[in-house]
Amino acid sequence: MTDMEDFWQEKHKESDLYWLTHSGLQRVLEMHELDAPSDKVVLEIGVGGGHMTRALAKNNKVIAVDISEIAIKRLLDVVHLSYLTHQMPLLPEDYVDLAICHLVFQHCKESMVRFIIKSTLRALKLDGAFSFQIAHDDMPTGIWRKMTDEGKLVWHDLDTIKRIVDEEGGKVDWVGGFRTFPNEDNITWDIVRVTKK
Ligand SMILES: C[S@@+](CC[C@H](N)C(=O)[O-])C[C@H]1O[C@@H](n2cnc3c(N)ncnc32)[C@H](O)[C@@H]1O
Repeated sequence: MTDMEDFWQEKHKESDLYWLTHSGLQRVLEMHELDAPSDKVVLEIGVGGGHMTRALAKNNKVIAVDISEIAIKRLLDVVHLSYLTHQMPLLPEDYVDLAICHLVFQHCKESMVRFIIKSTLRALKLDGAFSFQIAHDDMPTGIWRKMTDEGKLVWHDLDTIKRIVDEEGGKVDWVGGFRTFPNEDNITWDIVRVTKK
């Protein structure tokens, strides 16, 4: 197991709310400016405690992907399919209507971001979309600096992400963004929506 796999397994074992976040579906759809999907195949990457997954599964076929086995096992009663991240190349091709990845890439090195983008683009239908969030900060301070130094937070530059999307066969259709964590005003989240080229 890699350090990051170990780290997330631990967080899931402890049901650590801070790290698992438990974002609500409605709020995430608003941030990503997405309509609520219905009767779609939805791929969720990085499921946390599974709140969003369960809400999505009420009227969609949901495919769950996570780096942690515990996260995946917790959702077996509602998901259509599930995979560990390294199994993503096994996702059915041209199958997914909507892929969502929220609060995950900020914990992933660039090579992992590329792997997830590449695997997701392959799984997307031609008219499907992949919406994901990245975080960037010119100079993180305080707790963010500490987490960065420990390798738990990774800040991604939007231009680099756009280049990766392009190299992996996608195109960026829309970027939205906002400042978050009001006390830490250097931190910005970008929401990036990608389709197949
Ligand atoms: C901060 S939580 C966010 C959970 C959820 N998306 C939300 O917004 O509430 C990060 C989640 O991503 C998972 N994760 C971390 N690195 C990952 C990776 N490389 N591939 C897939 N999932 C990953 C973690 O196990 C955890 O479930």
